Amino acid sequence: MSAVLVTGGAGYVGSHAAYELAAAGHDVVLFDDLSAGHVEAADRLARAFPAGRVSFVRGDIGDAIAVGRALRESKATAVMHFAGRLLVAESVAQPLAYYRTNVTGTLTLLSAMVDAGVDRFIFSSSCATFGEPVGTPIDETHPQRPVNAYGETKLVVERALPHLERATGLRSVALRYFNAAGAHPSGLIGEDHDPEAHLIPRAVAAAVGHGTLAVFGTDYPTPDGTCIRDYVHVSDLASAHVLALARLEANGSSGAYNLGSGHGASVRQVIDSVRLVTGREVPFTLEPRRPGDPAALVASSDLARRELAWAPKFDSLEAIVATAWAWHERHPFGFRTPGSA
Ligand code: UFG
Repeated sequence: MSAVLVTGGAGYVGSHAAYELAAAGHDVVLFDDLSAGHVEAADRLARAFPAGRVSFVRGDIGDAIAVGRALRESKATAVMHFAGRLLVAESVAQPLAYYRTNVTGTLTLLSAMVDAGVDRFIFSSSCATFGEPVGTPIDETHPQRPVNAYGETKLVVERALPHLERATGLRSVALRYFNAAGAHPSGLIGEDHDPEAHLIPRAVAAAVGHGTLAVFGTDYPTPDGTCIRDYVHVSDLASAHVLALARLEANGSSGAYNLGSGHGASVRQVIDSVRLVTGREVPFTLEPRRPGDPAALVASSDLARRELAWAPKFDSLEAIVATAWAWHERHPFGFRTPGSA
């Protein structure tokens, strides 16, 4: 089996994809500058598999020499690219930082791949490339008009890929996640952002007494007035990456796929689900809308199911929340929980 360089491999979705790759028999090199990823995640992945299958290189995707060296030394035949900035609100305040990391950094990575002769690329994209939805569910024919710098930077890369393919033959699959959630069912790895901005971990934290959840907006045109999102389990996202790589390895064509469960859940439904799973109340306050939040984002993933044979295993919000809860119970302070390894 071939080696795969996984940028951002010590981060949330990257570490789960690395797990699935290693479980499928690939050699995996985690390439991460640890600005947001966790060395503990890399250590745990390395220990979970036969010696040498998962290794770790500390490096920055913007460092062409370091990327080139990692590609050559690992003899990688493909790259899965998760490294990047991912906070919508931060992207509005600091667009240049987002363009620098998500666009310039990715172009540096792609250029190092071309130099090293690595011609398979799986790209971590986002439903944020669609912007305000004009219809739901959102399939791949939906217009892409991002409304923030984060979504724009992901779209710039998506749009560069066909040009690069025509010029160099580098084939790619862009995977647009809706709301990644949950944790690995084994309890080995999970979500650990600092700061944590996402709804499910914040609701779980509130359930165990860490503050009060702010519900951002109760006057949206949705049945209960709160925003609707499509929560998809991180391990299901991970398996889509392995399938996308298999497609490229079988000489399949490049493509872009939307990845979601196909089911929408409102913020209030998420709170109910956290209450049900944890058996605890979730204290919350009703707050004004958070700028930049579309009312409802729900995916159609029919194309991924058809062309990648993607079959998500976690088909209910409760099942997803249960894994987030299990991770939190074992790791109340994330990867830095004493004695949790
Ligand atoms: N929310 C709250 N309170 C919180 C946190 C979130 O009410 O404390 C609400 C948000 O307003 C939103 C929903 O819960 O309606 C989900 O919010 P998240 O922050 O968990 O996720 P987003 O939908 O904002 O973000 C996701 C991805 C981004 C991606 C974006 C595209 O995490 O990477 O979708 O819109 F860019």
